[in-house]
Order: sequence, then C-alpha cells, then structure tokens
Amino acid sequence: MKTIGIIGAMPSELKDLREALPKAETHTAAQYEFYINSFPQADKRIVSVCCGIGKVNAAVCTQLLIDLFDADYVINTGVAGGIAEETKVCDIVVSSDVMHHDLKPPFLDNYPPHHSCFEADPLLVSAAVKVCQEKRETYYVGRVVSGEMFVSSSQLKDEIVSEFHPYAVDMESAAIGHCCYRNGVPFLVVRCLSDKADEEGEMSFETFEKIAAAKVAAIVLAVADQI
Ligand code: ADE
Repeated sequence: MKTIGIIGAMPSELKDLREALPKAETHTAAQYEFYINSFPQADKRIVSVCCGIGKVNAAVCTQLLIDLFDADYVINTGVAGGIAEETKVCDIVVSSDVMHHDLKPPFLDNYPPHHSCFEADPLLVSAAVKVCQEKRETYYVGRVVSGEMFVSSSQLKDEIVSEFHPYAVDMESAAIGHCCYRNGVPFLVVRCLSDKADEEGEMSFETFEKIAAAKVAAIVLAVADQI
C-alpha cells in the first residue's frame, strides 16, 4: 500500500482537501492530528496533517509522517508569496527545488558536501504540471524558498530574489524538502500565490488565502490520484 503524506501549515490550507475526502481515521502524535484516508481498491492511503507555521514545525511533522506512516511520498500544499516578477496572485508554483533563504552561516561553503538545495521528485513535478495544464491554471515550475518570516517588504524580497532566484516564498517548504532528502523520500511542493511578498502582502494574504488554498487543494488531490 502506497502512503502519500500531505502537509499544510494552516488549517485553511487543508480544509478543502479534507472536505473532498471521505471521513478519515485520526491518529495523534506530538500534538498533531493525522487524518488517514485509506483507498484499498487503489492500494493507497492519504495521510494529511496540519503542521503549524514555520520550519521547525514542518520538519517535526514531516519526520513523523515518515516514521509513523512510512510515507512513500510527501506533498506540501498551501499558499505562498509570489516572488518572481512575472507571477501574479492566484498563480500556481510547482517546486523544482527548495532552499532555506535564512540559513547563512559564513563558513557553510567550507564544509562540503553542504546540502542547502533540495530537489523535488521529477515524476511528482511532471504529475503536477499535467494537472495544472488539464485545469488550465497559470503555473510556474521553479524554486521555492523558506524562512522564519512572512515576507512583506520589497527590500527583503529583492534581496531574496537576487540571491536565490525563486518563484515563491513560504515558511515551511525548505524544511519539508530537507527532511525528505535526509530520509530518501520523494517530495513535491505545490503552492498557490496569496500575495506578492511586498508591502501589500499581508492585506493580499488575508483577501486571497482561502481562494488560493481551495485552488491548490484541488490540484494536490488530482496529483495524489495520479500516484
Ligand atoms: N506565505 C504566504 N505568503 C507568504 C509570504 N509573503 N512570506 C512568507 N510566507 C508566506
């Protein structure tokens, strides 16, 4: 039986996905409630969990998904800030890779191999691209970066863009990709843009969070269907 772990940071990022699935069994660990939906006819189960905001929460939760449920794949769903110039609110970003944008010890380069960029699974990326094309969504395949802050400043955004050249910024993806890399588990991030990570970011986030979360939930469910 294949297990697909789906992680969202906030309840709003899992609401639509859970409503679309049949009633789940639940399991609690480390104060997280894991929702388990089994599909014996497809030899598959989906375990979804709301990890809370930030990279520590995301890493703990990813490790639990892998250790407790033996996740074969991990998909991170939710909203993000659009950081590449061409992106617009409500566009989709499918991760090519993920990086921490706030991990900057000066000596990092002196300690190879230093893994700071974690590549998403190419088959999962292709599945997400196919779904976005079928649904006629505007989507980009590109880097997603994460840090322990909500980015809502053009200056910080410009600094992140010039260093990392990402498409989207969030607060969890890099930790999820990092944890999956250490465990040898394929992962994917699919995020819908709720804001442009600039001075209007917080207001835009409040306006578009629910619409963006609903859009990406439908995409992630269709990807899970293809696995
Ligand atoms: N999630 C959604 N928008 C974000 C932003 N601008 N910065 C960090 N995380 C986000």
